[in-house]
Amino acid sequence: MKIAIGSDHGGYELKKRIINYLEESRYNYKDFGCRSSSESVDYPDIAFPVAEAVASGEYDRGILICGTGIGVSICANRVKGVRCALCGDVVSAELTRKHNDSNVLAMGGRIIGSEVAKAIVRKWLSTEFEGGRHERRLSKIANHSSSNSYKQTK
Ligand code: RB5
Repeated sequence: MKIAIGSDHGGYELKKRIINYLEESRYNYKDFGCRSSSESVDYPDIAFPVAEAVASGEYDRGILICGTGIGVSICANRVKGVRCALCGDVVSAELTRKHNDSNVLAMGGRIIGSEVAKAIVRKWLSTEFEGGRHERRLSKIANHSSSNSYKQTK
């Protein structure tokens, strides 16, 4: 399994811990940046390349970390074919794989501790999609076009 991982400065320290875990577990990964916690970067500049690397099929899964996990998850979910789940607990990590077939995981480096985050990653990487009734729901997401459903205000 090929994993694309990235963070902004707010997620950098947690990303280092997760990369250690990926290396110990012998996962094949690429770090899409950023390279330090002291230099401010804009999370869209990291989140879109990671999400696009997954959407294109070049990588099987993506892991994104910012301060809250919210900014990167908003970005990732704008990329067609990406189903990004923001997780702060192991049960959500398990169920989003079983039910949503999420292909990108978002976490908040200023929200959760590294042991919880590693447990989330372990469960998320090892849990299979259940298929069945969930396939129908994913098709509805894939087929939805919002272009004329709502008035665009921004
Ligand atoms: C950066 O300060 C912070 O806004 C970012 O890491 C993230 O929390 C945004 O959602």
